Amino acid sequence: MEQVLFLITIVSSFVFSGRCSNVYNYSRNDFPEGFVFGSAISAYQWEGAADEDGRTPSVWDTKFHSTSGPEGYHKYKEDVKLINDMGLDAFRLSISWSRLIPGGRGPVNPKGLEFYKSFIAELKRHGIEPHVTLFHDDLPQILQDEYGGWLDRRSIDDFTAFADVCFREFGESVKFWSTINEPNIIALIDYGSLVNCTPPFGVANCSTESSSSAPYIALHNILLAHASASRLYKTKYKDKQNGSIGITFYAFWMIPLTSSEEDKIAAQRNKDVLLGWLLHPLFFGDYADAMKRTVGKLLPSFSQEESNLVKDSSDFVGVIHYQTFYISHSETRDLIIPTGNSTLLELDVFPRGLEEVLEYIKQNYGNPPVYVLENGTPSHHDSSSLNDVGRVEYLGAYIGAVLNAVRNGSDTRGYFQWSFMDLFEVIDANYTYGLYYVNFSDPQRKRTPKTSAFWYSAFLNGTQQELKNLSLSPSPGFASQ
Ligand SMILES: *[C@@H]1O[C@H](CO)[C@@H](O)[C@H](O)[C@H]1NC(C)=O
Ligand SMILES: *[C@@H]1O[C@H](CO)[C@@H](O)[C@H](O)[C@H]1NC(C)=O
Ligand SMILES: *[C@@H]1O[C@H](CO)[C@@H](O)[C@H](O)[C@H]1NC(C)=O
Ligand SMILES: *[C@@H]1O[C@H](CO)[C@@H](O)[C@H](O)[C@H]1NC(C)=O
Ligand SMILES: *[C@@H]1O[C@H](CO)[C@@H](O)[C@H](O)[C@H]1NC(C)=O
Ligand SMILES: *[C@@H]1O[C@H](CO)[C@@H](O)[C@H](O)[C@H]1NC(C)=O
Ligand SMILES: *[C@@H]1O[C@H](CO)[C@@H](O)[C@H](O)[C@H]1NC(C)=O
Ligand SMILES: *[C@@H]1O[C@H](CO)[C@@H](O)[C@H](O)[C@H]1NC(C)=O
Ligand SMILES: *[C@@H]1O[C@H](CO)[C@@H](O)[C@H](O)[C@H]1NC(C)=O
Repeated sequence: MEQVLFLITIVSSFVFSGRCSNVYNYSRNDFPEGFVFGSAISAYQWEGAADEDGRTPSVWDTKFHSTSGPEGYHKYKEDVKLINDMGLDAFRLSISWSRLIPGGRGPVNPKGLEFYKSFIAELKRHGIEPHVTLFHDDLPQILQDEYGGWLDRRSIDDFTAFADVCFREFGESVKFWSTINEPNIIALIDYGSLVNCTPPFGVANCSTESSSSAPYIALHNILLAHASASRLYKTKYKDKQNGSIGITFYAFWMIPLTSSEEDKIAAQRNKDVLLGWLLHPLFFGDYADAMKRTVGKLLPSFSQEESNLVKDSSDFVGVIHYQTFYISHSETRDLIIPTGNSTLLELDVFPRGLEEVLEYIKQNYGNPPVYVLENGTPSHHDSSSLNDVGRVEYLGAYIGAVLNAVRNGSDTRGYFQWSFMDLFEVIDANYTYGLYYVNFSDPQRKRTPKTSAFWYSAFLNGTQQELKNLSLSPSPGFASQ
């Protein structure tokens, strides 16, 4: 998805001015051998072709009725060439469930199958490792209508059957599977009202507020669906296909606004929920006591069998990180306040936040393998974004934060920038994250590299450059089609 700052009352809304130039004191060669650099898209936001070749609507089609986007379904070959020219090791994509299995369950759509096979084969042919997310928020509308999506346990079997098709059909080529994108955000946004007692947007005392159990039930079922697909992979495919399977989660970093004891406790309470809600069951087979205390009777419990299924069901953790917030205790509802001058358009550059998230995973969950599967910053979606020096500054700082964490022992193995090109952004389509600019009114949907594309390519090639030298000057050999 992208960052979800929109959810929060923006407390400060200044605009950045006078950015400094940056020569980062590291290069790609400082990363361990085998560390992968990539970029990412998701099916709904990139493909277009919503009603072509047998695809049926997903919940996102119903919500957004979007016809604007880069039309990747028709341009994937061209895009793989750009991906290759940039020098990426890996590329994160997702499968549209309703393109592959238009009925939600049952028959496979041959055209959908063919599309993903060709797209993945094209990546492989160029030596690019596909990291495939099975579910990136685009639930088939037909399943939403039938039983309310993740609120119903039938979603577990349907998801597992969808995963089975993907493992069987694409598993020879795909070595990295993420089951479900940002379950904590799906639970909060799709199933939480965000007004009652829904963490992490101000966790206070849930036992005293009237609130809904829906987000907790949805996340519980998502965990079981993930674990069920993971078990299937491990019993039926892993020996032959030799891949690994994990899940992603959305991770703000959160720091106490003041040094008061109350604020410290509040920050930890919000971490226990936003980060621990998903991670604790994955590594320990149950929700953490802190989570149980905060959420109280609204939180479902695991049977012994479910607990065994969920525990150790992820070979790696996929981290999605955009920004850091201050947390301030309040009797009714903790306040969350962006650091720096963050607004919807301009994220504060606070790279220590990502480093802290990676440290937190290392220190609290036994240092599992991690992939940062999304990190990036938005800019206004028009041609003024071509000279996106602010994005270069952001990416350079956050990649440096990953290096710091790796050097301090984090088992982080890859970094994926969001997003490879401008996509249809579901939060606010006027703000996009791409390394490539795409004019969605242009029938050709021409892809034009931004300064950040040149910078990332130079970084990947081991030739870090001064920012001021980069502005719209392609490095040698880099295709700017
Ligand atoms: C770069 O400099 C920063 C700030 O001095 C430091 O924290 C970081 O460890 C340095 N990185 C490398 C790779 O030397
Ligand atoms: C929440 O409120 C209940 C009932 O008033 C109280 O017993 C409990 O201690 C409170 N919990 C926290 C974390 O403040
Ligand atoms: C499986 O993958 C690991 C590392 O990714 C590699 O060392 C091993 O040789 C592979 N095994 C097979 C059977 O391909
Ligand atoms: C926020 O913006 C103000 C005004 O432009 C600037 O003086 C200040 O340094 C900025 N703060 C941060 C943390 O970037
Ligand atoms: C580095 O790791 C150690 C051990 O986990 C931890 O105590 C320390 O705080 C970490 N340093 C930083 C800068 O995060
Ligand atoms: C995006 O910008 C257009 C034109 O400026 C405006 O009409 C539209 O309301 C904006 N969309 C959002 C979601 O703000
Ligand atoms: C986008 O494309 C439309 C249609 O071709 C064109 O009218 C418009 O000027 C383009 N916008 C930019 C910023 O290039
Ligand atoms: C960047 O530009 C400056 C002059 O503006 C020049 O001295 C320097 O060598 C250039 N650096 C690179 C890496 O091209
Ligand atoms: C990578 O760098 C080498 C020289 O260091 C240069 O010859 C080559 O063209 C560069 N490739 C890209 C894609 O920039």
